[in-house]
Amino acid sequence: GQDLRIPKIASSIRVIPDFPKPGIMFQDITTLLLDTEAFKDTIDIFVERYKGKGISVVAGVEARGFIFGPPIALAIGAKFVPMRKPKKLPGKVISEEYSLEYGTDKIEMHVGAVEPGERAIIIDDLIATGGTLAAAIRLLERVGVKIVECACVIELPELNGREKLGEAPLFILVTSD
Ligand code: PRP
Repeated sequence: GQDLRIPKIASSIRVIPDFPKPGIMFQDITTLLLDTEAFKDTIDIFVERYKGKGISVVAGVEARGFIFGPPIALAIGAKFVPMRKPKKLPGKVISEEYSLEYGTDKIEMHVGAVEPGERAIIIDDLIATGGTLAAAIRLLERVGVKIVECACVIELPELNGREKLGEAPLFILVTSD
């Protein structure tokens, strides 16, 4: 059956046209965070899905994966691993590049944060082109971690981001078209 929590989560997300540039419909999850029921339901849905699945790593993508990832990690008894923008992590890092509309960006993870053979989920607020999540997948797979699933609150399906994720499944709560 249909999860009745989903439409309430969807309506708690504010859409701001032309931010940060003309033509972009910005999906603002800060209003979801203000709605105590929608925020709790969002975390609960992910926890229900991933608890007891042998997942030892919740990897969160900067910046909004740092909001949704930690409460999920705590509730399922996994560690939280931040996947950061370049030059933020103080220790030895491995990094993966991904392309933007103009140029490239990188995400980085501390060496030693995860062990080969661990099972991970990767959390972010939104998948657009899929470039960020694809880089996060490559980063973890390079060190022998199994990606059980990627999970986002919102998918922009027109950009076909899920096609960039290879074998890794994608779970989303809200589709925005
Ligand atoms: C947004 C979003 C995802 C990414 C998705 O982050 O939160 O992390 O873009 O885009 P993609 O699927 O096309 O890769 P943003 O780049 O705005 O960074 P921020 O969260 O640090 O502001």
